[in-house]
Amino acid sequence: MPRSRIMLDVLKGEAHFPPPLWMMRQAGRYLPEYRETRRRAGSFLDLCYDPDLAVEVTLQPIERFGFDASILFSDILVVPHALGRDVRFEEGRGPLLTPISVAEIMALESDVFHVNLEPVYETVRRVRAKLPDETTLIGFCGAPWTVATYMIAGHGTPDQAPARLFGYREPAAFQHLLKVLADHSAAYLIRQIEAGADVVQIFDSWSGVLDDATFDQFCVWPVAEIVRQVRAVHPDVPIIGFPKGAGARYRTYRQKTGVTGLGIDWTVPLAAAKDLQRSGAVQGNLDPLRLVAGGKALSDGVEAILNALGEGPLIFNLGHGITPETPIAHVEAMVKQVRSATR
Ligand code: CP3
Repeated sequence: MPRSRIMLDVLKGEAHFPPPLWMMRQAGRYLPEYRETRRRAGSFLDLCYDPDLAVEVTLQPIERFGFDASILFSDILVVPHALGRDVRFEEGRGPLLTPISVAEIMALESDVFHVNLEPVYETVRRVRAKLPDETTLIGFCGAPWTVATYMIAGHGTPDQAPARLFGYREPAAFQHLLKVLADHSAAYLIRQIEAGADVVQIFDSWSGVLDDATFDQFCVWPVAEIVRQVRAVHPDVPIIGFPKGAGARYRTYRQKTGVTGLGIDWTVPLAAAKDLQRSGAVQGNLDPLRLVAGGKALSDGVEAILNALGEGPLIFNLGHGITPETPIAHVEAMVKQVRSATR
């Protein structure tokens, strides 16, 4: 492993200035070259499962901006899809699934799970072979709670009410669903690591809607289970947890799940983030709308993060995914500001 993959050093707790930099959803609709490949692919899932095209879009933001890390192009919902659930993506509506019943949860399994996901593993192998040596490759999965919210509701919801209600009314079935997702997600990450991923990230986009007890049961416990299973096979591969909206629970989330790095959203106060750096690397946390706005809103936001967190282990990122309306010139300005920063 070349020493030059600085993101890996940061995840070991070293401080680097300027910090390594990448963006969540960096391959996406704000890029004209992505929209072009996306048109050729047909459906969004066809793009995820076509290694030729998935490699192409994974590499596009690296070629354009020279980020320190590349993230596999796929989606968190390939896991339920590979488990045999019906998953579609409709233009302007996001993901659509057939809501899962209690009986279907109890029967959920697939002996062709890895066969279905083989195109994703092939994408990881090919991306690693094409990436510059110094670029870190990130594999990922969704956290069981976040994936379950889509499986239960059948679509995105503002407050995940269908899944929360289901969790209260059908606790045994819901625990079973989370366990099946945790086991399969761990196996999925292990295969991505074996195909060449240097780091894996667990996206828990909806952890901000839970109370104390359900945060532990639905969010923390399944992620801890994934971390335990991945570490048993690959003890040295760093794992980043991104429990978006976890607020005051970020600290215990790291303690209880054992994740190496913490992805923090833009609502986490910088003073609290600095405190979190004492137990390991943090990744974030520019408001993606500062990147849309550009100008002073952008430069002030970047500067505040670098000033507050630049002396500790920091991976510069957005606090959530980049939005499609973001001007490319603003991304260029952000990259330039981070890269040319001096202490
Ligand atoms: O970061 C990357 O560049 C890697 C690719 C990636 C995608 N989705 C591609 C994608 C990653 C890491 C994800 C994660 C993901 N997917 C999450 C967790 C992170 C987050 O953003 O909260 C979630 C909740 C999903 C589920 C999902 N996929 C939704 C809700 C949507 C629709 C919303 C939208 O932006 O349209 C998707 C579709 C999706 N996944 C797109 C991309 C580039 C856009 C669809 C398209 O190009 O047609």
